[in-house]
Amino acid sequence: MAVEPGFDAERCDEDEFAALQARERSLRDDGAPTYLERLPQLRGKSQPLIQQACVMSFIAPRPSDAALDAGAGVGRYALLVAPKVRRLLCVDFSHEALRTLRGYVGAAGLTNVDTLQADLCRLPAVGERFDVVYSVETLQHIPTHRARAAVVAGLRSALRPGGRVVLVAEAWGPRSQGTKEGIDGRHGEGIYEFKFTPGDMRRLLHEAGFAKVRVRASNLLPGRVTDRGPRLAARVEGLLSRVPAFGGLGWFVIGMARK
Ligand SMILES: C[S@@+](CC[C@H](N)C(=O)[O-])C[C@H]1O[C@@H](n2cnc3c(N)ncnc32)[C@H](O)[C@@H]1O
Repeated sequence: MAVEPGFDAERCDEDEFAALQARERSLRDDGAPTYLERLPQLRGKSQPLIQQACVMSFIAPRPSDAALDAGAGVGRYALLVAPKVRRLLCVDFSHEALRTLRGYVGAAGLTNVDTLQADLCRLPAVGERFDVVYSVETLQHIPTHRARAAVVAGLRSALRPGGRVVLVAEAWGPRSQGTKEGIDGRHGEGIYEFKFTPGDMRRLLHEAGFAKVRVRASNLLPGRVTDRGPRLAARVEGLLSRVPAFGGLGWFVIGMARK
């Protein structure tokens, strides 16, 4: 699939939107068994470690928490969060990703994880409210602002009053490659991707009804530096990621708020 730099999802009609989503679902199904191996190959060994350290510090899971992982994939974050919370519901539209996730969860002996195959653009009522809802690198793959807004509104509805949301998306900033929006040629997969400025993230959270939105960054340092000492780099990045002024300068934008 060639890169399509001029692509504008806002011009998609319903059928084109559905085709983009169907293509992603099918590619996620195909890629699920090898996803965790491919990630460090694509991104360098330190990037996933650093992202996980920063994002986990913002999710800040607690033993009493019921948590929702929106776009859980094969459970990269679920496997870190589940041991630290009371209960975790993992939602994804890829059947194979969730099947792979259940395999990892079983192998890890975790018994507090459930899965739900659903489209986050139309999240069904699940009959419970969550203390924390997080979503890592999923919003960036939802075509159109309207659909992304529907996802964030659905996540807000799933939160209990006072519950917290943590949204992580690829950034459009000095670390970015390619175009702000396009059919991603980087992975050669043809998946839609929208890169976020801090303003894009704030707007989504505000429109969904969240006040007091905070935006931070992760993966601020280049991989050629962090690959030399990933663990030390993760500690330095942990400090840098707390600085509000750096919110637009990392590989990822992290939006946070309370209901
Ligand atoms: C880049 S992967 C990230 C997975 C995981 N959060 C992680 O960080 O490893 C994006 C995930 O979002 C899921 N996804 C994308 N659009 C979705 C939608 N509309 N509804 C449900 N899941 C969706 C994909 O199937 C995929 O598993």
